[in-house]
Parts: sequence; C-alpha cells; structure tokens
Amino acid sequence: MRRLFVAGNWKMNTTAAVGSALASALAVEVSKSQPAVDVAVCPPSPYLSTIKAVLGTSPIYLGAQNAYFAAPGAFTGEVGLDMLVDVGCQCVILGHSERRAIFGETDELINKKVAATLQKELGVILCIGELLADRQGNKTEAVLETQLTGGLAGIDAAAMKHIVLAYEPVWAIGTGVTATPQQAQDTHKFIRNWLEKRYNAEVAAATRIQYGGSVTPETAAELLSQPDVDGALVGGASLKADKFIPIIQAAAAVKKSA
Ligand code: PGA
Repeated sequence: MRRLFVAGNWKMNTTAAVGSALASALAVEVSKSQPAVDVAVCPPSPYLSTIKAVLGTSPIYLGAQNAYFAAPGAFTGEVGLDMLVDVGCQCVILGHSERRAIFGETDELINKKVAATLQKELGVILCIGELLADRQGNKTEAVLETQLTGGLAGIDAAAMKHIVLAYEPVWAIGTGVTATPQQAQDTHKFIRNWLEKRYNAEVAAATRIQYGGSVTPETAAELLSQPDVDGALVGGASLKADKFIPIIQAAAAVKKSA
C-alpha cells in the first residue's frame, strides 16, 4: 500500500517569524497524532535553515521549491543542491507550473535538475499538469506524456523510488477550482498506466502521485480517497495551520484497500 504524502508548497510567501510559527504548530500536531502519512513543508530558500531548526525532531520533512543542477560556481541568484543538502532538506519540488510558465523552464532543464537532485540523494517531487486550453482541447494526456517523457528521460526504474509525481492541473492552481475527484482519479490512473509502460508494474504500483490545485480541508478527503491519489501538494491552504492540519488529518483518516 502506498503511504500518503501531503506536502505544503509555501511558494514566495511568509517571513521567518510567520513561517516559524506555522512550522511549530505543524510539528506539534504531527508529532502528537503521529499520522500514518508523510508530511513535508517547502519554505522559500532563505528560511530553510530557520524552519529546519523549528521542525527539530518532528517527522516533518523539509523540502525546497527549486534548485539548480550545476555544481557550486558562478550562477548568480541560483540555489545549488549541495546547499540544500547542507541545510538539511530531504526533497525538492521540480517542474512546478509556475517555474515552467513564469521562468520558462523546459522539460529538458527540469530533467537535468531531476537527475542532479537524485545524484545528491534528495527526493524529488516532479510536477506535471495541463493548461485549461489543453484540457478543453482534449490534449491533457498528450501534454502529460510529453512532460513525463521529458522530465524522466534517463531516469531508471531503481531511481523511481526517490521520485514522487505531483499532478497539478494548471487551471486548478490558486484558482479555487479543484479538479473533481473523478477527473483527478482518471488522470492519476493515466499517469500510473504510463509508468507501467515506461518502467514496469512494480514501479507503477509503488510510485506515489500527489494531486495539487486548490486542495482545501473541504475537498481533501474525497480527493485523497481516490484509489490512485496518493497525497496532495498544497499551496494556499498550506500557509495556515488551521487549514493544513485538517488536510493532514483527512489523509491520515483515509482507508484504502490494498
Ligand atoms: P494551490 O497551489 O493549492 O494554492 O492551488 C498548489 C501548488 O501550486 O502546488
């Protein structure tokens, strides 16, 4: 059975004080209830060390929102993977639609980042997702296939245990429009079938696929109950403890048959 994984993507939000208060509230809750789910927070890079210290011995993972693939050197403004290891990160979000749309990241660049991140023994949350026009034009599967093929080029089956996929329909991110549970399930199933074709049945069965896009305490339980939805990547609702904690609790309460 795949263990559910709920990650909070803080994006370019919070201050050291606000992020610390949030992480502290989450650490108390997650340690107290010891949910049968994995939980991560992904703060902006200037606050990673601060948040790591606040999380202390809590089981919450620390993730970054991006990284550059190259070894330390002349890359003004970039954050390297060695630095993320140094400050205690365990995973990195790569290929988020905001990185693709606003910063022009291509599947080729994302693939270099995926490979370099795995080399540093960090986990990857690889985001994929279609635009509204893609969905309306019946191109969702083709777009996802291109992103998966490009993003995972050269990544072998053994490495897949360090990769979590996040299906985030771009039309659902930050819009308040959530994919219906059926839309999420159908798309996750498509992704799982793709994994079986590209790799094998074991990889398809073991790889966790998070859903992301306007997940809230109200929508989490039904989305997370879908057989192929293995967690959530949460943006806006991860910035408030009283919204993120119920999502973690909803994940912990989900019962799925093997
Ligand atoms: P949202 O963002 O929950 O605010 O829609 C999700 C994401 O971009 O990861």
